[in-house]
Amino acid sequence: MSSIKVTKAEPFSLRISEIAPDKSISHRCAMFAMLADGTSEIENFLRAEDTLNSLQIVKNLGATVEDDGVVIKISSEGIKESSEVLDCGNSGTGMRLFCGLLSSAEGHFVLTGDEYLRRRPMKRVTAPLRDIGAKLDGRNNGDLAPLSIRGASLRAFNYESKIASAQVKSAMILAALRADGECSYSEPELSRDHTERMLKGMGADIEVDGLTTKIKPMKKLLSPLKIRVPSDPSSAFFFAVAAAITPSSDVVLEGVTLNPTRIEAFEALRKMGADITYETTDNKYEPIGNIHVKHAPLHAITVEDNISWLIDELPALSIAFACADGVSVVKNAEELRVKESDRISTVVRGLRACGIEVEEVHDGYSVKGSKLQSATINSYGDHRIAMSFMIAGLKCGVEVEDVACVNTSFPNFFELLQKITSVEFA
Ligand code: S3P
Repeated sequence: MSSIKVTKAEPFSLRISEIAPDKSISHRCAMFAMLADGTSEIENFLRAEDTLNSLQIVKNLGATVEDDGVVIKISSEGIKESSEVLDCGNSGTGMRLFCGLLSSAEGHFVLTGDEYLRRRPMKRVTAPLRDIGAKLDGRNNGDLAPLSIRGASLRAFNYESKIASAQVKSAMILAALRADGECSYSEPELSRDHTERMLKGMGADIEVDGLTTKIKPMKKLLSPLKIRVPSDPSSAFFFAVAAAITPSSDVVLEGVTLNPTRIEAFEALRKMGADITYETTDNKYEPIGNIHVKHAPLHAITVEDNISWLIDELPALSIAFACADGVSVVKNAEELRVKESDRISTVVRGLRACGIEVEEVHDGYSVKGSKLQSATINSYGDHRIAMSFMIAGLKCGVEVEDVACVNTSFPNFFELLQKITSVEFA
């Protein structure tokens, strides 16, 4: 399947309980289970390419993985050197977090990924890890994969990151757990905090005070995880936008993590005028519940704060901007340029192809809402670009090329999209 045609949607009213499980949490489950004494039990693990690659790497590193199709059980007797090259596929989260985990492990490891991941910057983790004694290298002086790691003793650190990145923070926290003293990490804005919540829940000595996280090295192995992974708000958001832009439509998205660092895009959509309510139903490591989104006329907004809280949803939010009254503006979002594609450029190109007036600047763009026109869109191999423009197709009909990338995060996306409109695979 290389391209897909989506036709204009009729009004719909849906409850969706099958949104893909959270990608960030699933990666962490696989990796953190290697730090536990005993068997971790993970229900609703995301069975998509990115996270299955992390699970395979954990197996390559010596963990025992039992999977009955519902619960995945992982037990480990410490990280073992692997004779395999560790393939992270398309996943920046996988590669960057494994750098932190493996920097202190005994042995030699090689991490690689697909053509897109091998172009993405890794210095943001390799540089601070090297500064504390990690023996890490890669092309372009440690910036580009394949990366090689020779486990080493790590020094305690106080690191002030210039970017709000959960991947960098998580890599450094994983390194700190094996460093030779108490460490602290601070960031300019709070990035998603699953690592802190999950490791604390497993018994790690981690304290969060505003933008600073203090980590004491592990004195003993952690308690195993017992978790049901909630649905992924970044995946759910495609259907939130679908309801918000389709007159007389509404959707209830069930069992989604309501972690405040993850639902900012829903808040942005609410500020645009969509009718959005939350219902908390559970709290394990983080709040979980349902999000109800109803169509309403949308108006333009400016997005410039807490960008890391909605960075993954900006492509889909931009489809809502195109359907809103007025000019929406995105600022302070240069991080978009180093995602699975340069998402400033790929969003701008896609919207222009749909006849929307867009202006691009180095750290963002502006979108003048008007009528979307039917177009053929290149996804540039980026899952979120592919899915965002399929949602645009609900307004105008589109053909999106190169859609196999959807399998990296949301394999049942097409099935759910078919509940709203007709979808033709080419
Ligand atoms: C992620 C962090 C974010 C996000 C990515 C997942 C994570 O990246 O874009 O999809 O799981 O830690 P950055 O930390 O680079 O902002």
